[in-house]
Amino acid sequence: MKKVWWKEAIVYQIYPRSFCDSNGDGIGDLNGITSKLDYLKELGIDVIWLSPVYKSPNDDNGYDISDYEAIMTEFGTMDDFDKMLSEAHGRGIKIVMDLVVNHTSDEHPWFVESRSSKDNLKRDYYIWKEGKNGKEPNNWGSAFSGPAWKYDEKTDMYYLHLFSVKQPDLNWENQKVRKEVFDMMTRWCKKGIDGFRMDVISLISKPEGFPDAKVVGLYGDMNICANGPKVHDYLKEMNQKVLSKFDIMTVGETAGVTLDEAKRYANSEGSELNMVFQFEHMNLDSGEKFKWSTKHIPLVPLKENLTKWQLGLDDVAWNSLYFCNHDQPRIVSRLGDDSDEFRELSAKCIATCLHMMQGTPYVYQGEELGMTNTVFNSVDDFRDLESVNAYRELIESGLYTKEDMFPKIAHKSRDNARTPMPWDTSENAGFTTGTPWLALNPNYNKINVADQLKREDSVFHYYQKLIQLRKEYEIIVYGKYELLLPDDEHIFAYVRTLGNQKLLVVCNFSKTEQKFDFSGYENAKVLISNYDGNISEKATLKPYSAIALLLDNAQKM
Ligand code: GLC
Ligand code: CA
Repeated sequence: MKKVWWKEAIVYQIYPRSFCDSNGDGIGDLNGITSKLDYLKELGIDVIWLSPVYKSPNDDNGYDISDYEAIMTEFGTMDDFDKMLSEAHGRGIKIVMDLVVNHTSDEHPWFVESRSSKDNLKRDYYIWKEGKNGKEPNNWGSAFSGPAWKYDEKTDMYYLHLFSVKQPDLNWENQKVRKEVFDMMTRWCKKGIDGFRMDVISLISKPEGFPDAKVVGLYGDMNICANGPKVHDYLKEMNQKVLSKFDIMTVGETAGVTLDEAKRYANSEGSELNMVFQFEHMNLDSGEKFKWSTKHIPLVPLKENLTKWQLGLDDVAWNSLYFCNHDQPRIVSRLGDDSDEFRELSAKCIATCLHMMQGTPYVYQGEELGMTNTVFNSVDDFRDLESVNAYRELIESGLYTKEDMFPKIAHKSRDNARTPMPWDTSENAGFTTGTPWLALNPNYNKINVADQLKREDSVFHYYQKLIQLRKEYEIIVYGKYELLLPDDEHIFAYVRTLGNQKLLVVCNFSKTEQKFDFSGYENAKVLISNYDGNISEKATLKPYSAIALLLDNAQKM
């Protein structure tokens, strides 16, 4: 397998709004990030993926961009950005930017022009259609509730917005749009950034004829736009014109991606992207029609799914490994156990299971502390438009009662991931001296950076060790993967193989003791364990225990 730096790197995602506020306005900012680079260095990560910091009216917290080449006022200035970039580089940390080009903000000058008249030069930068019998051009629904089309009085036509009404979709068919995007990307690369995480990039090519989609929930499924007819052409063009000219890493956020599609997006010839984020494992705890539910992620389907991706991309493409990001509730609350008794153990168990797989691991801010979902007392506590809109729409439609809906939204809301980073036990956890834009998780007295840096057995130090191990042992990066015990409902176990070495990973995802047969691994070296690592009692797995054992057959001879 071809060895490259981005396969060996560990990425840390920062959601700037919630990371660290340097000036007391309650909103995290670039200088705040710069002030915490030593913390990230200590954790050992190589790359930061920065959620959007561009100018934005913040309908969707920066995922609605009104100027791709200016910094959001609340986050600072371009000088602050340059300082952050050079301070990061000085510590050997790379910076990957979020690239949001499926849509812009409706306040982007392109859209302001586009909507002004039918014959404006920028009209075709976006997707405009006539209504059908006084209604939307088709039945597509927006990811943030309601139809995906917005009627615009000015020209008596509808524009497409797969996300909020303030996020009109760009028309990638238009080669001028592609040129604008590629030129903008080139300017960022020349500035010295190290790559792109591409927001919903699988949606940029819309299906020909804009046909109605199968209804899921209330509207036509917008996944009809996933992996559209020209998406690979567009990415190949982007690759030729921009990506191939720089030593950068790229990861596509590919809603609706299948294994076969991923093999194309992330093909090892490198004609498109380096890797993609798939979503199947994150949908295993969805409700019947919507993502909203209070379910736990079931282990057997999770093993089946991750194994499918481990085997399917081996040698032909590359996996990204993640359980957390700014759109996902906290994994300890979804897959582990966030009670005092098992929170740290289960956080470490989950981390071991993911970090010992093949692919590039992503750590989302606070994951390295074992952060949990937060507490919402009423709908007024939600800030995220997805949660707020869904709550309103699903109750108004009569599908759910308020009592049904609230716990489901509370469990799955994206705001769970967005509560500010808890740095210490001072007021507002050292995140801000002002009023935080979103309330802190009330458990910050228990879960915070200061405490975990002091404690050798903390989740932080466990992540630090996992990250270190990946740098020491090639088998963790490149080894082949094989699942053991596929039907076991409690144990997630697998073996990695590289040359003469074998790495056995055994994780007990339950709060009861389990049996496991370690024969053959009696002389193996314990790389990491969340208990005492004593394998003399190896046949019994303690609750949420995780262990990785390295067997070097070359050594024995
Ligand atoms: C992606 C982002 C999400 C955003 C959406 C629209 O899924 O991760 O936060 O709301 O795209 O840009
Ligand atoms: Ca601030």
